[in-house]
Formats: sequence, structure tokens, C-alpha cells
Amino acid sequence: MAEDTLSITDNRTGISYTVPVKNGAIRAMDLRQIKTAPDDFGLMTYDPAFMNTASCESRITFIDGDRGILLYRGYPIDQLAENCSFLEVSYLVLHGELPTEAQLNAWVQQVMSHTMVHENVRKLFETFNYDAHPMGMLASSLAAMATIYPESRNVLNAEVRRLQILRLIGKVPTLGAYGYRHKHGLPSVPPDPDLSYTENFMNMLWKRTEAKYKPNAVLARALDVLFILHADHEQNCSANAMRSVASSQADPYASSAGAVTALWGPLHGGANEEVLKMLDEIGSMSNIPAYVQKVKSGECKLMGFGHRVYKNYDPRARIIKRIASEVFEVTGRNPKLDMAMELEKIALEDEYFVKRKLYPNVDFYSGIIYQAMGFSPDIFTVLFAIPRMTGWLAQWQELITDPAQKIARPRQLFLGYGRREFVPMEQRGASAAAGG
Ligand code: ACO
Repeated sequence: MAEDTLSITDNRTGISYTVPVKNGAIRAMDLRQIKTAPDDFGLMTYDPAFMNTASCESRITFIDGDRGILLYRGYPIDQLAENCSFLEVSYLVLHGELPTEAQLNAWVQQVMSHTMVHENVRKLFETFNYDAHPMGMLASSLAAMATIYPESRNVLNAEVRRLQILRLIGKVPTLGAYGYRHKHGLPSVPPDPDLSYTENFMNMLWKRTEAKYKPNAVLARALDVLFILHADHEQNCSANAMRSVASSQADPYASSAGAVTALWGPLHGGANEEVLKMLDEIGSMSNIPAYVQKVKSGECKLMGFGHRVYKNYDPRARIIKRIASEVFEVTGRNPKLDMAMELEKIALEDEYFVKRKLYPNVDFYSGIIYQAMGFSPDIFTVLFAIPRMTGWLAQWQELITDPAQKIARPRQLFLGYGRREFVPMEQRGASAAAGG
């Protein structure tokens, strides 16, 4: 009978060790016993960018990157996108089970009762430049909320955590909408709790002088499905940022502000904005082959392509392509779609992309839909952050309640100078010259 262990022989010393294998992994700390001398620190693993390191045990989201499978709490993303509302999925991701009708009604009512934002945080938006990036405004306003709810620092109290979760999920669309309205020089619109989560977001974005905003049902459903697709994605860069900041027991407003800034980068959630810039740069169908050549020669990346985990079609991209046609029936076809489809076709047949298993990710098509809905590219990543708040909070809750977790504090392989004597100012020129 095979044992769940790993035998390791250290060829430096000839000593053999046996370490347990659990859930397909060994514990890095089990390697510390492997030493060449009693005062040796012990063996470490070196894994920049976490290419092969599990930082936690999780029960929230499962991805099979080779087969293009994404499950939230065991349920396939396409089934959730087909049958659920965003808040239903949010409940599932946070609580672990689909809600009963009564649980869902209570959850919706509670979240919607937390959509208003303290006036001091609203006023913060007035201080931003007219062209401030919406992600900068979102991160700042989230961090500012920590000053309004100081009790949120009591992160070990389950009731306190629950209240902050409701506040954050309720208020993040309001903050996103404030940023949008500020950019467009429009007064902010208060939340309307008669509307659904997504409809209310549309109301706060687009209400003008009408007495009551009436959202377009097709666009509201499309946005709701896009929110479902973005709710969580296991240990991605921003979830890891959320966990890392929160591991110091920082409050969830500060931690989620950190997650927002991680999401902002063009290699992560900021890619949806970059895809549109790229399509603008390409300009027309006839320029696509030359652009693909530029990508292959390493001059630039094909934004919205590639993924650390997916080595197959991102299942979210497949669903987004379908939503696109529903949205375009209302908004008219975004001409960028033809360019994106042609780019995808060429890339999927080209050896460079095939060999590296580069497929379109969630960001490749989402921006084209958002643009057709009337959003400018700089707010696309906010549309990602709003639903991802659910995932960040689920990851946070899991971290805080996991007895195996401690403050996140990686090790390093130090390759710099050893101890050396201080050099007085008057002697430095000579040593700097000697150094280089
Ligand atoms: N265009 C061209 N080549 C690419 C791309 C791309 N978009 N992505 C990866 N490659 C190439 C790399 O140059 C590398 O080639 P090499 O082996 O010849 O050096 C190879 O594919 C492997 O790529 P890595 O950078 O090692 O893959 P990694 O897992 O570190 O990066 C990432 C993943 C950041 C998503 C990358 O694919 C990328 O930059 N994509 C474009 C940005 C993007 O769309 N980000 C959104 C990701 S989804 C999300 O966060 C929501």
C-alpha cells in the first residue's frame, strides 16, 4: 500500500528524510529540519510569484485551469450565471450554501439597507480632480470608511465582521457610482432600495432628472451576470493582497483598499481597460496581423490573453461572449467586437499562443460590453472590483477563522552584502568609484 509521504535525500549530507504529503502538498516547514550543520537555518523553498505554493487551505472557489472549470462552493459558474442573481451568488460565496428563499430575501434586504454612505465619505469625492482615476477614488474612499467605523478593527469578533461585510457589499457600488458621477461632473444619486442590487447601481450611475430611474431589464441582467462572473477567483493577486493585509488584523476597509489597488494593475483587473486601449491602438482589422507580430516579437503583450491558472479557454470569457450579443441588441453592436473576434481567431491558431496555452481571459470581452453600455474604459476595473468585494470578504473571513493562519511574512534568500563597516562621507567617493 503506497504511503502518503515523500522521501528526500540531501546529497550534501547523505541524510534521508520522510515528510508527510497531505492534499497533494508537503508543508514547507517540514523542510526546515534538513540542515547541513546544527547552526544551519534549514532548507527553504524559493518560489517568486507563488508559482507552486499554496498559501492557504480554502473551500470557496475551485479552478481546474487545464480543463477550464470554475466552481463557486462546488457549483459550476455557467449554472450560477444562468440561474442566480448576483446577491444570491454573493450569499453562496460568503456562506458556503445557496440561500433558501427566506434567507435570500433577508440577505437582499440587509445588503440594500447598507447602501448609503456617510456624508463625510461622499464629500471626499469632491476633493478629487475631475480626471482622477476611478480606481484611485475607490481605494481612497474604502480606506476612508475605516475612519467612520472604528469598531471594524475588532476583526476577531464574528458579529462585527458580519456587519462590516454587509456594509462593504452594500456600499461598494455607491462608492463606485460616486466616482463615476464625479468624473462626469454630475451630482451624486442616493441609493434606491426598491431596485435590485445591480439596478440600483445603474440608478446611481445614470439617473438624470426623471422622478424614478427605470433600468433596462436586459442591461441590468447582463450586468448582474457579469457581476456573478467576477465574484471570486480563488488566490489571485488581489485576493492574496486582501489576505496579506488582513493577516496583520488590519480592518476590512483598509484591507479591501489594498485589494483594490492590487486589482488596478494592468496584469490583473486593469487588463479590461488595457484591452480597449489596445483595440484603439490597433485601429482596424487590417492592422491586426502586424500587431500580432509585435506581440510575438516581445514588443508588447496581447492584453486580455493568458492566465496564471487557466491553460484553456477561461469559462467566464465563454459566458461573456454570449452576453455580448444580448447587450448589443439593446445598445447596438460595438464595432470593436469584430476586431476582438478576429484577434482571438488569429491568436488561437498561431503557434506562439498555442504553444504557451494563451487563451482569452475574462477581461478580453468584458470591456467591449461595458463600452457598449456607455462606460468609459477607466471605470471598467471598478466594475470588476464591485462584485469582487464578495470574494475578498469571503477570503478574509476564511483567513480570520483559520487557526493555521498567522501574519503573512515570507522569507527571502538574501544575496546582498554581508556585514561591512560604515564609510564616512569624505571617504565615499573613492569606495563608490571602486564599487562601480
Ligand atoms: N501576450 C503575449 N505573450 C504572453 C501573454 C500575453 N498576454 N501572456 C503570457 N505571455 C507569454 C509570456 O511572455 C511567456 O512567454 P515565454 O515563455 O516565451 O517567456 C509565457 O507566455 C508565459 O507567461 P508568463 O508571464 O510567465 O505567465 P504568468 O502566469 O506569469 O502571467 C498573466 C499571467 C499576468 C495574466 C499574463 O498572461 C499577462 O500578462 N496577460 C496579459 C494581461 C491580462 O490579460 N491580465 C488579466 C489576467 S485575468 C485577471 O486578472 C482578471
